Amino acid sequence: MIDPVVRFQWTSGSSRMDEFGKEVQTTCYTDADQRRPYFIILPAELEDEDELIGCTVLQRIWQYLSPDIQTIKIDKNCLLESISNDRPEECWLESISDARLPLLDSSPGLQNCPKVQYSKLVEVDRLEPFVDLMVHSDSTDRQVIFKYNPCRPRFLWNEIHILQLLPSHPNIVPLDHIVLADVEARILGFTTRFVKGGDFAKNKTRLFKVKWLQQLTDVLDYLHLEVGVAHGDIQPKNLLFDPETDNLQLIDFGMVSSASEYCIQEDMDLTYFALYAIITLDLELFPTLRSYDTAVLKDKPWPTNRKLDCEASQLRKHLDDWVKRRKETRKTGSQATIKKFPGSGRIEESETLAWPELELYDEEEEEDDAKAEEAERKRYKFPWRRPSYAEAYPERVSKKRQAPDSEAPDSPVLEKKPKA
Ligand SMILES: Nc1ncnc2c1ncn2[C@@H]1O[C@H](COP(=O)(O)OP(=O)(O)OP(=O)(O)O)[C@@H](O)[C@H]1O
Ligand SMILES: [Mg+2]
Repeated sequence: MIDPVVRFQWTSGSSRMDEFGKEVQTTCYTDADQRRPYFIILPAELEDEDELIGCTVLQRIWQYLSPDIQTIKIDKNCLLESISNDRPEECWLESISDARLPLLDSSPGLQNCPKVQYSKLVEVDRLEPFVDLMVHSDSTDRQVIFKYNPCRPRFLWNEIHILQLLPSHPNIVPLDHIVLADVEARILGFTTRFVKGGDFAKNKTRLFKVKWLQQLTDVLDYLHLEVGVAHGDIQPKNLLFDPETDNLQLIDFGMVSSASEYCIQEDMDLTYFALYAIITLDLELFPTLRSYDTAVLKDKPWPTNRKLDCEASQLRKHLDDWVKRRKETRKTGSQATIKKFPGSGRIEESETLAWPELELYDEEEEEDDAKAEEAERKRYKFPWRRPSYAEAYPERVSKKRQAPDSEAPDSPVLEKKPKA
C-alpha cells in the first residue's frame, strides 16, 4: 500500500479569478493509489506558493471522501468550504485522467524492445507512487516492477530510452519490457526485474557492506567515464540490494543527463550524502541536500546506526580516495570519452546516446480552437483509474484496519493560517 504521506502527487496548478472576482489558486493532485485526480481550490491570499496545502488537506480527509468527489474548496481559514463531484469550471489543468501518452511509433529506437500489453500484467501490490509490483499473466512466478508516470512523461521517456541504450551492467537493473496500452500502441511505462532485497531508505536494518560502496563507485565510474552520462539522483532509495547475487543495484534513471563536469560533481556529492544517510539513517536531511556542499558532512557527527561489515571510517575513506582519484584523472585529461559529450546539455544532444524529443502536443492544433476541440474529443485517453487499495486487497486491509485517529473531517483545520 502506498504511504499516504507520498500518495497525493502534485500534478499541475494555476491561478484565476473566481465568479466573485477573487483570485483563487487551483491545484491538481493525483491520488497515486487510485490513479485519479483531485482538484483543490483555495484563495490566493493563503499564499500557498509551494502548493502544499491541498496535499495536506487530502492526507487528512481522503478516507472520508466518497469516490465521486473531484473538487475540494478551502476557505481563507484553511477550512473545508465545499466539495463537488465535478471538475472546476474553466479548468484546463492537465490531470492523470486526460494525460497524453507517447505513441510507440514516435521513437524508432524503441521498435525492437520487448513489449507487453498492460492487460497481460496482473497487479500484485502497489509499492510507491507510479511503481507497482506485477506478474506476467502467462508466467505468474515472474514478478516485475511496472513503472509509469503519466504526469511526468518526460522523465519516463528519458528513463526508457537510457535503459534501452545502456549496455548491460551487473549493478544496473535493465529494461525488461515496454508496457503498451491495449487499444492503441501508446507507451504507458516499462517493467524491470523485481529486486527482492528492497532499497536502503526503507530497509533500515539491513547490513551494509563495503563491497556495495565499491560497486556504487565502480558503476558511477562506468557511467561517467565510459558511457558519458551522469545519473543525477543517487540516494538510498535508488540503491537496491539483490539477495540473488549479493550485489548492489542502481535504479531510477529518470534524471539522467550528459556527463558534464557539473553533473559528475553532483553525482559524487550525492554519493557522499547517500553514504551518510545509509550509515546514520538520517534520511530526513536527504530531500534538502541538493543545496548543500559536502563540506557540511565533514563537520557533522556520523553516528553508526546501521550494521556495517567494516568500520564507518573505512567507507568514508573509500569515498575520499575515489574522489581524489577522479580529480587526478580529470587533471591528466584521461577522461577521453567524456569529450564526446561536451557541455552540460542533456543526453539527446550527444552523438551516440540520442533519442527523439518527446512530442505530445500538435502545434497546429494548439493554434486553432476548433481543431483543438475536435482533437480533444478524438484523443485516446487511457483508463488509469483503479479501485482503492482496500477494495482491491480487502484481506490485507482488514488485518490492519483501525479506527481513524482523527475526528470526522467536517473541519480540517490546518496549521497554516492566513496572514492578518
Ligand atoms: N526493480 C525494482 N525492484 C524492487 N524495487 C524497486 C524496483 N524499482 C523500483 N523499486 C522500488 O520503488 C521505489 C521507487 O522507484 P523509482 O525510484 O524508480 O521511482 P521514482 O518514481 O523515480 O521514485 P522517487 O521519485 O521516489 O525516486 C524505489 O525506491 C524502490 O523501493
Ligand atoms: Mg527513486
